[in-house]
Amino acid sequence: MPIVFDQVSFTYEDPDRAEKQRRREKRRLRAAQRAARKAATQGQAEAGAGPASDATAAAPIGGCAPSNPGSVPAPSDPGVSSASSTADAAFSLLEDVEEKPAWGTAPDAVWALRGIDFTLEDGEFFGIAGHTGSGKSTLIQHMNGLVHPTCGRVLVGGQDLADKKAAQALRGRIGIVFQYPEYQLFAATVYDDVAFGPRNLGLDAPEVDRRVRRALESVRLDFDALQAKSPFELSGGQQRRVAFAGVLAMNPEVLVLDEPVAGLDPQARTEFLQLIAELHAQGITVVMVSHSMDDLALLCDRILVLKEGEQFALGTPAEVFAHAEELRAIGLGVPAAQKLANDLRNAGFALPAALYDADTLADDLAALYQAHQEGSHA
Ligand SMILES: Nc1ncnc2c1ncn2[C@@H]1O[C@H](COP(=O)(O)OP(=O)(O)O)[C@@H](O)[C@H]1O
Ligand SMILES: [Mg+2]
Repeated sequence: MPIVFDQVSFTYEDPDRAEKQRRREKRRLRAAQRAARKAATQGQAEAGAGPASDATAAAPIGGCAPSNPGSVPAPSDPGVSSASSTADAAFSLLEDVEEKPAWGTAPDAVWALRGIDFTLEDGEFFGIAGHTGSGKSTLIQHMNGLVHPTCGRVLVGGQDLADKKAAQALRGRIGIVFQYPEYQLFAATVYDDVAFGPRNLGLDAPEVDRRVRRALESVRLDFDALQAKSPFELSGGQQRRVAFAGVLAMNPEVLVLDEPVAGLDPQARTEFLQLIAELHAQGITVVMVSHSMDDLALLCDRILVLKEGEQFALGTPAEVFAHAEELRAIGLGVPAAQKLANDLRNAGFALPAALYDADTLADDLAALYQAHQEGSHA
């Protein structure tokens, strides 16, 4: 079930601006109705023409690329504004947008994502990196239709997530674990919290029970000891496991994790990463947002680097981390061992241009040293 991002752009609506527009629209509508009533009572049929000339004010904030006119949002009220006037307004807004810094939520910037285009393949371990605010969390929320692209499409197994029926059918198959998921625990017991999703799928009680047991087991929590406890009595690390189990209980084929080890102590971090690696080894496709270049280098098949809502780099860890300078320019590092290897190579050590972690670097340095010793004894 590959997930295709087809030229996805996304803009958050500015709620204040949207509210003002809505009020303006209402006032216009009321004025038009008053005018129409007045005209009717006076028997002047032609006065009921309505507010069509002002209707372009209802255009959405931001527009789509002209090459993609199919995804211009529909007018909110077809009786008030015509499709073509909305599309025209959207395109003229696009021209405005193109001239401005086109990203983020600053007053004169609009886009949170721009032209994202890649395919997540089955069974991949896919990493997403980028500075704070670069669009990582926004991007992953597109993967199960939680938010919809302003422009472009997200296809899951060939189905467009904009299609409500298709999105509904995929429910649970793509599981998202949000950042600090323990903040979303709510039920009175661990059992009820983990059972919430499976129950919502309409599964019968024995199946819900099986799912809850298995999910708690796979996050290494003791079912019998914990199931009747309040999640709020548990430690932070355990709470995160419970929240994680809630997503696993849906049996997802794709597991999307937003900074899953943020805020954990070093031991819990290592355990959690091991858990994720095991789930991946069992066949689950994993998408992981992370600030840790070491974790990404160690675990990922491919890494997508975002910069201000756009794709900055996409490739294997070796490909991406070969661009240490460019990454540094956008505030990202390379894994510590890789940096040391790069520096040693620049200083004249005959290290191959491979992707290094601490172990492989230690091995290659030991081999170099041994060859050097043997050379000097010969
Ligand atoms: N709910 C929201 N409303 C408006 N703007 C938002 C919202 N969430 C995020 N943004 C903005 O969208 C951009 C991308 O944010 P986000 O996806 O959270 O980035 P990241 O996860 O990489 O830190 C940022 O400019 C951020 O301020
Ligand atoms: Mg985020």
